[in-house]
Amino acid sequence: MTMDPGFLWGAATAAYQVEGAVSEDGRAPSIWDTFSHTPGKIERGETGDVACDHYHRLEEDVDLLADLGVNAYRFSISWPRVIPDGTGAPNIKGLGFYTELVDRLVDKGIAPVPTLYHWDLPQALEAQGGWRNRETAVAFARYAALCAESLGDKVMQWATLNEPWCSAFVGHWHGRHAPGRRNIEEAFVVAHHLLVAHGWAVESMRAVRPHGRYGIVLNSLPYRPAPGVDFKAVGAAIETLDEIGTGMFYGGVMSGEYPKSLLGLSPELAAAIQPNDMTSIAFPLDWLGVNYYSDTLLVPSDEQGFVYPFVTGVSASLPENPTEMGWALTPHGLTDFLVMLHDRFPSLPPLYVTENGAAYDDPATSDGRICDDRRIDYLSTHIDAVAAASAAGVDLGGYFVWSLLDNFEWSYGYRMRFGLIHVDFETLKRTKRESFFWYRDRIAASG
Ligand code: FCB
Repeated sequence: MTMDPGFLWGAATAAYQVEGAVSEDGRAPSIWDTFSHTPGKIERGETGDVACDHYHRLEEDVDLLADLGVNAYRFSISWPRVIPDGTGAPNIKGLGFYTELVDRLVDKGIAPVPTLYHWDLPQALEAQGGWRNRETAVAFARYAALCAESLGDKVMQWATLNEPWCSAFVGHWHGRHAPGRRNIEEAFVVAHHLLVAHGWAVESMRAVRPHGRYGIVLNSLPYRPAPGVDFKAVGAAIETLDEIGTGMFYGGVMSGEYPKSLLGLSPELAAAIQPNDMTSIAFPLDWLGVNYYSDTLLVPSDEQGFVYPFVTGVSASLPENPTEMGWALTPHGLTDFLVMLHDRFPSLPPLYVTENGAAYDDPATSDGRICDDRRIDYLSTHIDAVAAASAAGVDLGGYFVWSLLDNFEWSYGYRMRFGLIHVDFETLKRTKRESFFWYRDRIAASG
């Protein structure tokens, strides 16, 4: 695949997953600090206290990016580092870390692509109701404007939120992510407040830096019948799963509308929508980020409440040869999802695959090499899938591997390793996996 010269080839990380230094230079706790320190929430009681220690190893990590040959780096800014209590005075030292990161990237010819919110809400805001409280969206728009003002001379491409579906439903319904709540009605209200926050943030950033390119990063949640399963057996469930996963988030942002059925399913959602909210949510975007890992393959079952309490009669099939996360290998699903978005939303801006990757923990060989052939195969087939979508007419602006480094994989702790670079979490030593060299060659070959 050759892509036009403006195509971004990148790698991605997120603040809480890599930075560490959680109480340094004025950073205050986020909901993920609280959650990871709550017994029983994270495997082996692991936390992001140190993570990859990226905060202290900035120079080394930017050198690794340069060596990888990427022309873009997607990272996230930690809100509680920049505005520790969420609403008050900016923390100059915290901001300084991101200024230094951006400067170093730009010096190496790597475009910085920050995300403002990758799940680490200041704990002080959670104490006031977190995303259940509409005021959090006001605070977010202010934080966004501060970031644009401070970094927007060197940062062009911005994402507001990462995967608001996860913040809402995994954080407030499944309880597996911070803040660990289990209330479906709250989850819908949270989803709405996040989307309003996104819209207001884009508006406030554009006012400060009109030439920035603003977008959001959404989950892709494609569900399909497992091989051999008749569509009719799982079709009703797929429809509801799609209305929430795709209809609410992509539809909200692209068309300013939620699927009508959702307003019936969730009276609290309907009640949370205030005049002009849907116009704000659909504030025009310059790009849209899609994180893709796998399709979920469904089989009929007696399971009650698959993903949401009102989806019954289906469950996920156990895929053959899954990644260590248990996710199926469905590269064609990435092509299909991108093409579906293109067909379904006429006003779609250029798409970027902002995360794609696989967890595999291959041991080092006696000569110290880490031969992660399955990761190479995963990345290779998914990059081909992006090329296929592009050939089918989808406007694609870039592709980012998740992740540059092994890191704190949320409730799994450090067990799931997604990095092109292996991290020894005892010594913090970085070792390039074979996939690192493969990706470097792949980028070079793309011209
Ligand atoms: C995505 C998250 C990212 C990482 C990958 C594996 O949902 O955005 O932080 O955990 O999954």
